[in-house]
Amino acid sequence: MLNDLKPKEIVEKLDRYIIGQKDTKKSVAIALRNRWRRRQVPEDLRDEIAPKNIILIGSTGVGKTEIARRLANLTNSPFYKVEASKFTEVGYVGRDVESMIRDLVELTVNNVKAQQQESVQEKAAIIAEERVLDLLLPGSESKSNGQGGADVNGQAADENGIKLSLAGTPSSNIMDNLQESQNSIDIVTSASGKDVSSTREKLRKMLRAGKLDKRLVDMDVPSRAMPIIEIFSNTGMEEMGINMKDMLGSMMPKNTKRRKVKVSEALKILSQEEAAHLVDMEKVTTEAVELVEQSGIIFLDEIDKIAGNGGGGHGPEVSREGVQRDLLPIVEGSSVPTKYGIVKTDHILFIASGAFHTSKPSDLIPELQGRFPIRVELHSLGKEEFARILTEPRNALILQYIALLRTEGVQIEFTDDSIERIAAIAVDVNERTENIGARRLHTLMEKLLEDVLFEAPDTSEKIVVDASFVDKQLMAIVKDEDLSRYIL
Ligand SMILES: Nc1ncnc2c1ncn2[C@@H]1O[C@H](COP(=O)(O)OP(=O)(O)OP(=O)(O)O)[C@@H](O)[C@H]1O
Ligand SMILES: [Mg+2]
Repeated sequence: MLNDLKPKEIVEKLDRYIIGQKDTKKSVAIALRNRWRRRQVPEDLRDEIAPKNIILIGSTGVGKTEIARRLANLTNSPFYKVEASKFTEVGYVGRDVESMIRDLVELTVNNVKAQQQESVQEKAAIIAEERVLDLLLPGSESKSNGQGGADVNGQAADENGIKLSLAGTPSSNIMDNLQESQNSIDIVTSASGKDVSSTREKLRKMLRAGKLDKRLVDMDVPSRAMPIIEIFSNTGMEEMGINMKDMLGSMMPKNTKRRKVKVSEALKILSQEEAAHLVDMEKVTTEAVELVEQSGIIFLDEIDKIAGNGGGGHGPEVSREGVQRDLLPIVEGSSVPTKYGIVKTDHILFIASGAFHTSKPSDLIPELQGRFPIRVELHSLGKEEFARILTEPRNALILQYIALLRTEGVQIEFTDDSIERIAAIAVDVNERTENIGARRLHTLMEKLLEDVLFEAPDTSEKIVVDASFVDKQLMAIVKDEDLSRYIL
């Protein structure tokens, strides 16, 4: 589970999504590799090695968040992004700084649970099939119910078998019943055990062939719609690691409702239910907590907003510094109680980020500065980078639009000179209005293709976007500074 990519490999993978920002990629790759290295160190020394937290400095839209997010993604590390300024907000009651750890754990538990459910999907599907057969044919519960993996699995649906077996046997009226009834199947069978089990097998074949999908069965469907719970705030309780929602949820009777559902839906509901049963929550929790402790990444956005810039020492200044002080123990390493147990934050990697236009990292309180020993500056992006961002990343904007339009059968092509033009305009608008980095490309592209996107359902010819197309669509707006402030 834990990733052992070499720094070079990490950078290579980041390169697929992020253009430029070499230094940043290198720093985060080293930080990540150091964590891996630490895990190889003998135990007595291991706990001494603290992660080297990073501050990313760069103006808006140059890839700070993107790099951190991709990093977490490609190394399969638990990742949580939080705005540092959120903890200072006036009137923002109840979100203490520790909540970020709880949120990270919650998120990871859910992810691990989903993964585990995925891995027992096959088993769950087999059990669900048996349960649907039980519903279709009460009283025929197969011996293999629940565990019947192997023998059940072996049989493929055989259409001929079904047709052949329909005539003559005592169970045929059951089958007729199934074929004809539009509503739920209420079968009273007096057939002998053997007949019942052969009927069951026939039903199984039909079920697998999807022939029963539209039939209805009666079934208890969980209906857990209790919005009242949201009224209670988690404040305070949360600090003790108690979750109101879960508590109330388990206190109230489980609300199930008998409903008629389609067989195909019943299969889905029951496999989900069985998958949830098969997953060992204890194991999930232990694994999630371990994952968070060993490879969690917390992205502290807008850290510059909690850096005081030498002001008077009261009002927001105080609260900002307060947040920094609150952050200290967590970043340094402390034990945070969560409802999944105590989580130690010692080895969580913190990546902070901020533009630091009006303040500097040195405006942070010294203790906090010391806990972020690595500082990297991201470059602002130029024309060449914009052109590459448009086309090169796996998720490049141009590729996104091509894919979007293809859904309506519209082919669109961008010539090289059109890319050049868009990039040049992006630089120009960024310089003359506000520098929003690569996000400018998003607004430009949307405006550029507005008409195309509007007309697409009724378009059949291929669209070629070249420099003159770009000029035609954008120049009027770009030239008018006021207009571009509003539109681009
Ligand atoms: N170097 C880059 N390579 C590829 N795409 C980029 C790059 N920089 C930014 N982008 C794109 O621009 C968008 C904004 O980037 P990102 O969210 O990383 O900005 P940021 O630096 O975190 O800005 P902010 O300070 O406003 O949070 C992303 O959707 C990303 O796809
Ligand atoms: Mg960001």
